[in-house]
Amino acid sequence: MTAFVVHPATRPLSGTIDVPGDKSIGHRALLFSLLTTAPVRIRGLGGGADNGRTARAIGQLGATVSRDGDAVVVQGTGLREARAPAAPIDCGNSGTTIRMLCGLLAGQPFRAELFGDDSLSRRPMRRVIDPLLTMGAHITGSGGSGADVVPPLVIGPLDGRLRGTEHALAIASAQVKTALILAGLQADGISRITEPGPSRDHTERLLAAMGAPITSRGREVVVAPDAWRGAGSGLELPGGAIDVPGDPSSSAFLIAAALVAGAEVVVCRGVCINPTRTGFLDVLAAMGATVTVESPRQVGGEPVADLIVRGAAPDLRATEISGDLTVRSIDEVPILAAVAARARGTTIVRDAHELRVKESDRIATTVAMLRAFGVDADALPDGLVVVGAPGRPLAPAVVDSAGDHRIAMAGTILALTASGSSRVDDAGNVATSFPSFVAVMSGLGVELREEP
Ligand code: S3P
Repeated sequence: MTAFVVHPATRPLSGTIDVPGDKSIGHRALLFSLLTTAPVRIRGLGGGADNGRTARAIGQLGATVSRDGDAVVVQGTGLREARAPAAPIDCGNSGTTIRMLCGLLAGQPFRAELFGDDSLSRRPMRRVIDPLLTMGAHITGSGGSGADVVPPLVIGPLDGRLRGTEHALAIASAQVKTALILAGLQADGISRITEPGPSRDHTERLLAAMGAPITSRGREVVVAPDAWRGAGSGLELPGGAIDVPGDPSSSAFLIAAALVAGAEVVVCRGVCINPTRTGFLDVLAAMGATVTVESPRQVGGEPVADLIVRGAAPDLRATEISGDLTVRSIDEVPILAAVAARARGTTIVRDAHELRVKESDRIATTVAMLRAFGVDADALPDGLVVVGAPGRPLAPAVVDSAGDHRIAMAGTILALTASGSSRVDDAGNVATSFPSFVAVMSGLGVELREEP
């Protein structure tokens, strides 16, 4: 198993990075391209293992996926001509792949089986299965801990059509929302999905651009497919190309590195600044960090900008992350907690129960990662508390990533502020979302070695 050996930063970081493509948008670009009949060129896919799972899945469902220079070209089947997969679909570590597929496959006239790795095989699926069952879908899974259902899942075949349904989601989840939108597109009648918080809206943006009959108002999405179906129900992407903007969740690690280690200048180019994703920038601003947002522009229907950090490590102060801000920074909590370890005062994260069911129990694994450096941190049922210790180096650590890419990267960044070299075990999983992480960090001047 790969480990990272990370040396403390001895000089300010410096460099310009074209941040690899956003994982969430990459999944959607691939899956929705299956649903069109004209070829789609996807530029800027991040190259992570999770997106690779979605690419292989759409291949099993009848798409042709090929490389053309730095683009991936998908020849889809259209919404109604997807093919029954000849073998079970391996979703690997990717919750987004399996949950989005549940919604797509729920409306199809064939049977499909979905499975994943050990981590995915523990993740709760009732949140997506239950609302799909109310639409008339056939889905079964395995018994998980408690009353939940976990992969492997068997979906379909559906005889007839799903029923449009109103869903009031108990959890703000873009994966569940996406599944219900995809099911709604295949249903008779209108579906309405309301959610309690501002989950990422990439699905709504991309499907609307493809001509899907969906509208969003505040926290409600309405899918009204009947008239559209009468008109031929084609999805088509004008121009036939999607540019995937840089992943804000990946950029958060680079920005955090520049803040805790200090920077001459670190420029993250082309980062998606969709407001449903930029909670971490608001948190960092509240901590007293200056991250400059330059050259705002539109890429692929998403707002994009360059994010820049300059100067010595700032004097950071603790903050509170709760409510909608937690939803808007849910994937960034491990790295924000690492930054909080270098801030004055006690940072508290609340309303983050969801972290318990990510690639790892991220409340437990973030606290364990911080404690490995001697940081005073405690878990709460729905979050965590971090007592910052700025000014003095942390203890060198041995961090166990617990198989979680974001814990491995957060531990690597915090190691820059330790008094000696640290080791991050089981770190190969950074390839899930950020395969060039080691090269990018090294390019910024970090001394980081991979060991088998
Ligand atoms: C994602 C949604 C979020 C996020 C995950 C990616 C997506 O999960 O944590 O990393 O691409 O839709 P939930 O839908 O469970 O909130």
